[in-house]
Amino acid sequence: MIVLGVESSCDETGVAVVRDGKEILSNIVASSLKIHSRHGGVIPEIASRMQLESIAGVFSEAIKIAKIKPEQIDLVSVTGGPGLPGSLLVGISFAKALALSLNRPILGINHIHSHVYANLLCHHNIKMPCVALIVSGGHTTLFYIEDFSKIKTLGQTCDDACGEAFDKVAKIMGMGYPGGPLIEKLAKGANDRKIKFACCGTDNELDFSFSGIKTAVLYYLKDKKNGAKLKKDLAASFQESAINALIRKSLLACKRKNVKNLLIGGGVVANSCLRQKFAQSSKKNGINCFFPTINLCMDNAAMVAGLADYLYKKGLRSNLNLSMELN
Ligand code: KG4
Ligand code: ZN
Repeated sequence: MIVLGVESSCDETGVAVVRDGKEILSNIVASSLKIHSRHGGVIPEIASRMQLESIAGVFSEAIKIAKIKPEQIDLVSVTGGPGLPGSLLVGISFAKALALSLNRPILGINHIHSHVYANLLCHHNIKMPCVALIVSGGHTTLFYIEDFSKIKTLGQTCDDACGEAFDKVAKIMGMGYPGGPLIEKLAKGANDRKIKFACCGTDNELDFSFSGIKTAVLYYLKDKKNGAKLKKDLAASFQESAINALIRKSLLACKRKNVKNLLIGGGVVANSCLRQKFAQSSKKNGINCFFPTINLCMDNAAMVAGLADYLYKKGLRSNLNLSMELN
């Protein structure tokens, strides 16, 4: 089965063609991130206008690279949410028009669940049930997955998402947007134990809270002299504390659910320190830890098409009344 995926939940416009839920024939992403960087964050109105301009071109490119004709598409899938309303609307409208013109079925896909599915595009030997952790700019969530049509939330952030905390800390430190890759770069080779930051406790042990560390960084910077070495240690110490909280809670979730497989996804998983520390700690605790390749960690449409293939075969259907789901 050939599935077309469309993803436009935030600043990117992605279209992908995936065969049988596993083989990526094309995966094109256009991003307006450079424009947003100037403003220190994504400006929804600019994002959706750029998506409207680029989506037809991205679709043509995806079809061309996949070497298929539009008539060969069996199913059109699209991110239904969560995301920015204007951005989601562009992708959903495009997908509906395409499904209608080709007379093909359409399926709306949850963005966060598709980040988890990205792992199945990279690793073909993953057995369910699994625990999954999604760490992105908008979400930090732990899931229990029996199969992809039965996903249960175990915990989530009570305030900032982890990527959002990276972005805000970078801003506090006078760096650009997105902050995650900049913090990672600054932290390289620095002392990650210089400052002890504690992630605040939460009522549910599997929930997260990152706003406390972000504020602690702010106060630390106010109190101390702002030397270059201190900034590097500060970035490394923040990164270390955030990653440790993610690892601790993910391993606890695996233990509670008696599960050996841990799937990790979302933009923050592009962080090489996170990947290394998760791999080490999981191994020590007898857990198999999986990450997608970097391009599949970031927002993309192949993960949408992959999950759509799976859910369609399980009997899930949408129709042309499909509307966005903001939460
Ligand atoms: O999943 P994603 O592409 O978009 C959302 O669905 O939110 O994630 C974007 C987030 C941003 O907050 C960005 O700062 C963070 O991922 N990020 C990183 C790194 N690369 C991207 N965070 C830490 N280290 C990185 N290398
Ligand atoms: Zn995302």
